[in-house]
Amino acid sequence: MEDGRIKDDDITASSQWHETTGPQYARLNREDGDGAWCPEGQLDASDLQFLQVDLRRLTFLTVVASQGRYARNGIEFARAYSLNYSRDGVIWKSWKNRLGSTVMEGNKNAYAPVINDLHPPVVTRWVRLIPRTELSTVCMRVELYGCHWEDGLISYSAPEGQLMPQPGLPTAILNDSTYDGAHQKRPLSGGLGQLTDGVVGLDDFLLTRQYPAWPGYDYLGWRNISMGADQSVEMDFVFDRQRNFTSMKVHSNNMFSRGVKIFSSVSCWFKPRPSSAWEAEPVVFHTVLDDRNPSARYVTVPLERRAASALRCRFAFADTWMMFSEVSFQYAPITLSFSKFPPRSSFPLGRHLVCYLLTGAEPSASAVPDDSKAPILIGCLVTIILLLVIIIFLILWCQYVCKVLEKVSRIRSGGVLARLIAIQSTDSHEYSDPHYERVFLLDPQYQNPETLRNKLPELSQSAEASACGGGYAEPDVTQCTPHQCFHSNAPHYAETDIVRLQGVTGSNMYAVPALTVDSLTRKDISASEFPRQRLLFREKLGEGQFGEVHLCEAQGLAAFLERDAAGRDRDGRAALVAVKQLRADATSQARNDFLKEIKIMSRLNDGNIIRLLCVCVTSDPLCMVTEYMENGDLNMFLSQREMESTLTHANNIPSVSPADLLHMSAQISSGMRYLASLNFVHRDLATRNCLLDRRLTIKIADFGMSRNLYSSDYYRIQGRAVLPIRWMAWESILLGKFTTSSDVWAFGVTLWEIFTLCKEQPYSLLTDQQVIANTGEFFRNQGRQVFLYAPPLCPPSLFELMMRCWRRDIPDRPSFEGLYQALRPHVRQ
Ligand code: ADE
Repeated sequence: MEDGRIKDDDITASSQWHETTGPQYARLNREDGDGAWCPEGQLDASDLQFLQVDLRRLTFLTVVASQGRYARNGIEFARAYSLNYSRDGVIWKSWKNRLGSTVMEGNKNAYAPVINDLHPPVVTRWVRLIPRTELSTVCMRVELYGCHWEDGLISYSAPEGQLMPQPGLPTAILNDSTYDGAHQKRPLSGGLGQLTDGVVGLDDFLLTRQYPAWPGYDYLGWRNISMGADQSVEMDFVFDRQRNFTSMKVHSNNMFSRGVKIFSSVSCWFKPRPSSAWEAEPVVFHTVLDDRNPSARYVTVPLERRAASALRCRFAFADTWMMFSEVSFQYAPITLSFSKFPPRSSFPLGRHLVCYLLTGAEPSASAVPDDSKAPILIGCLVTIILLLVIIIFLILWCQYVCKVLEKVSRIRSGGVLARLIAIQSTDSHEYSDPHYERVFLLDPQYQNPETLRNKLPELSQSAEASACGGGYAEPDVTQCTPHQCFHSNAPHYAETDIVRLQGVTGSNMYAVPALTVDSLTRKDISASEFPRQRLLFREKLGEGQFGEVHLCEAQGLAAFLERDAAGRDRDGRAALVAVKQLRADATSQARNDFLKEIKIMSRLNDGNIIRLLCVCVTSDPLCMVTEYMENGDLNMFLSQREMESTLTHANNIPSVSPADLLHMSAQISSGMRYLASLNFVHRDLATRNCLLDRRLTIKIADFGMSRNLYSSDYYRIQGRAVLPIRWMAWESILLGKFTTSSDVWAFGVTLWEIFTLCKEQPYSLLTDQQVIANTGEFFRNQGRQVFLYAPPLCPPSLFELMMRCWRRDIPDRPSFEGLYQALRPHVRQ
């Protein structure tokens, strides 16, 4: 609604208060007309005024958001509303939650949007939102979220499920409780329900997935003796148009110890057009029964590309009970949709994240591979492995050839490899330059988080055409309905960039364009060239994927710099510096990244940002020389200390005082304030990336993700991108959006680390998957998100500051200027 994809003509209403409060003004976060749709008169509870939206095609509707309007004359929002929907514009159904309630929570004030997940989601074309309220003036703005219903299934019919009493166990109620067709009398007909709600049943059918429900809730199940003489279950599936069916997937329980098994065979008949008769010849498929593995599983039934607009399938029992939780269909040819509202398979997020967002279902990997397809799967896997081996070989070969060519060209141009002084390098840090920020990160329309979910399809346009690429998604995580999600492997756009930008450190994530080595020349680098023979190796400080960091003596550095630099040698002795050196065999991409890092660092000049003193780049190996920070990184420093007390004094235990911690916090806010003033987005602010000198001055750096010590702070997505998810704002995780405000979020987590003395990882009780699930809760903002706890040592006002950094709405977070002003009184001179 908000972005105008749903046209005014498709938004109608039963009435309107005034021309300026017509239905076309019911768009979330928009202030057009008088700011919202308001029906005529004062509504009371029995009034059924509605706002109607025609989505123009069948849509899997998963979330609805509502908002009031600026209250000029009282309460102009709906405290509650219900939703009716229709697939054909004629028969209207009331949406009910899984416990049968039709009323959804509405707004509490006139401005804040409230999001409602539809549990269960519905497949519909028309939607009516009906405010339910005590006597009052009601105004509403709304947003609808979902995906195109690519499956095309518009109804199924089946015998209603049954009760399964079991001695010593609760009775399993195996009916289709969300079925929206006729089901008063058997059989179910003309509707959709639990078999298409995207919830895959567990191995034990008595357990349910996530919501409070009765035993057996996730399954529709039947007993053989109640199914007539031929002991089979017949189901009809009706589609919106004719399709060439390649297969049907039926998710079935197989708890044979309780008399439940997948079906032994299925026969499917085809009806080419709605008016034609069933074709005589069925497709018959026999399953391989399994008495060893009780896991619930998808059984794939090949359908031989038969054309039909309806299917009738008869499933034969293999045991006393048969239970299904999901049915979906696959057909050929696959038509790529380029509509603005893409199928779920092309959302930019990984399947588990998207479906978690859209359906609220917990990410899970419970779907079990279909045994009957094992030989085909093995064949495919072998082919893929062979292809991968060939590709890896080709890449290695290319790299080798490139390197040889590079060497040849350097020798030809008369370059002499400089003497390798014992300095080798390292990790890269690079600050994103606003000029290079990708357009969508700066687009103000994305500044409002309420609009972000709606933007997901848009952001995925580029991924759309490559719906089968790599991505976040784990194989067979099928919490959304399987209909469109099976092939959701499109790369996250942020991830794509991360991979592309992995350079010197294997870690850069900054939004900078790929510069070629040729395009980045010496004149781009404002740091001076230092004679490398005057760098004398002292000790190794660290190591990264593409080099090492060494402590060196820099002879005559002060004179060289001609100013009172941090690495000065006032008394004539050599200054100590940290030298990062690119490994001799680094790829040209790594070299390029290293030069970019130098370029960016050479432009930064602040007392709380690590300073680049000089470089050695006219010959190989490339080096950058930075200030040496005697106390190493802040994480290590704090984790080795206790809070100052009489005990620490008496026993000489290294300690820090609350005043030290506040001083550190203030300095980090000051460094970040400087970066923010230049519009640089750090993306990985954390104590591990802050260095300390002997006077406890803090300087922000970025060591990337290649230090083994901190590898558990980074979440690896299918072995490709690595992300510091525990420090990342929800919009960075879910949308790849990195801004100064997401740096503010990370600053809040950094404060939390400082006040826990880095003794604990943030959200240490949550697994990475749970942290991501929690991110979904931050997005939904319905009070289910888990926040970091208040560290016992932390003054309440400081925890309050942290909480402000983790505000869900981006504009509500403080600026670094504000944070600095709040912490400034604690800076020690
Ligand atoms: N490790 C990496 N860089 C460093 C620096 N500049 N000072 C101290 N230790 C470091």
